[in-house]
Amino acid sequence: MTTPNDRSLSPWIATTAEIRAAFPALERVHQGHRVAYFDGPGGTQVPRIVVDAMADYLVHHNANAHWAFPTSMETDSALAEARRTLAEFLNGSPGEIAFGPNMTALTFHLARALGRSLGPHDAIVVTELDHHANVDPWRALRRERGVTILRVGMVPETGQLDWDDLDRCLTDHRTRLLAIGAASNALGTINDVARAVAMAREADALTFVDAVHFAPHQLVDVRAWDCDFLACSAYKFYGPHVGILYGKRQRLEALEVPKLEPAPETIPERLETGTQNHEGIVGAAAAVEYLASLATGAEGSPGLSRRERLGAVFDALHQRGAALLTALWHGLSDIQGIRMFGPPPDAPRTPTLSFTLDTHPAAEVSRRLAARGIFASHGNFYALNAARKLGVEADGLVRLGCACYTSEDEVARVIDEVHAIARDG
Ligand SMILES: Cc1ncc(COP(=O)(O)O)c(C=O)c1O
Repeated sequence: MTTPNDRSLSPWIATTAEIRAAFPALERVHQGHRVAYFDGPGGTQVPRIVVDAMADYLVHHNANAHWAFPTSMETDSALAEARRTLAEFLNGSPGEIAFGPNMTALTFHLARALGRSLGPHDAIVVTELDHHANVDPWRALRRERGVTILRVGMVPETGQLDWDDLDRCLTDHRTRLLAIGAASNALGTINDVARAVAMAREADALTFVDAVHFAPHQLVDVRAWDCDFLACSAYKFYGPHVGILYGKRQRLEALEVPKLEPAPETIPERLETGTQNHEGIVGAAAAVEYLASLATGAEGSPGLSRRERLGAVFDALHQRGAALLTALWHGLSDIQGIRMFGPPPDAPRTPTLSFTLDTHPAAEVSRRLAARGIFASHGNFYALNAARKLGVEADGLVRLGCACYTSEDEVARVIDEVHAIARDG
């Protein structure tokens, strides 16, 4: 029988067993149980090769940038190389990639810069599906600049955007920016970003895409989407805690960005505040390199660019993730008192599933799973508006996220344990 982890289905990328061997954290045992990490949407585990790259930077090349001695010059070239790597990851160019502490800080920074040219006659559109990191930085401009903030609704039954509402928000107002998520970290919904960007462009609005939950699961393509700005976080795709901001060259050049006078005026450095997390940036690039290295068969042949190898790897990982999600969805659906949220397995989605049990609060489910070695997050995951719309703001959701190292056995284990918890209630 063909299983989604078989080489027969994706012969040119590493098997799940090979992938698992690269992640030391998977060896952890908790209360006698091998730990199964379903907390990937909150932050994934890190392969040894990423840890080694960061340690190598700190041990051998550590310095501040832009000086005329070896460690500083080595730092400059490590940062330049990382920009090239992250540019390839997102399909932008190195001058369009800025680093920062995390997506939230970068988005506040960008919002402040864009807000300098906005006023009371302007509107920004956010969505009900989004993490608050793609809501509050824009909402701050209401207080600071008098900008109108419009919120596109979500359809609670499917966890998908209300596209008619989006159309209304874009056309009935003087909308200057659409801030949209590529994928919902709470429900797994994948939005048709290219369509949203085209609609925004039609309305003469810029676009900012939150790709934090999307980037670990599908290959971002800023050129295909034609978005103006995009942000993601390396700690969600097997790297360290670093944020990455993409902006179209002409947009970054034109931004009235808050900056120190002596700091570089050139892009992308003009977007970066203070000394960067050099080891983290090196680690983020190593995470991309790790993902590309999973193309081990014909598709990983030396003739292919890193971007092409990433494409092959993400296609295969997406198939595996979809199979795991389908197994989870069907395995949990017959539990009495379970409510599962978000789009069904055959809709565009990531392998992230949220649910509640009417017998136990989400925090209790999470605690009981942890006692069996299954680490799963609970709460609203800062997707507060979606949680409110679904009526789960008080108790929150339990979230199970599959990552590249998630095995079929782990999925079977979590299904059994959730059944046991529900029976116990
Ligand atoms: C969809 C989404 N957007 C934004 C964020 C915020 O990212 P960061 O922690 O890098 O600020 C998260 C974090 O969980 C997220 O899942």
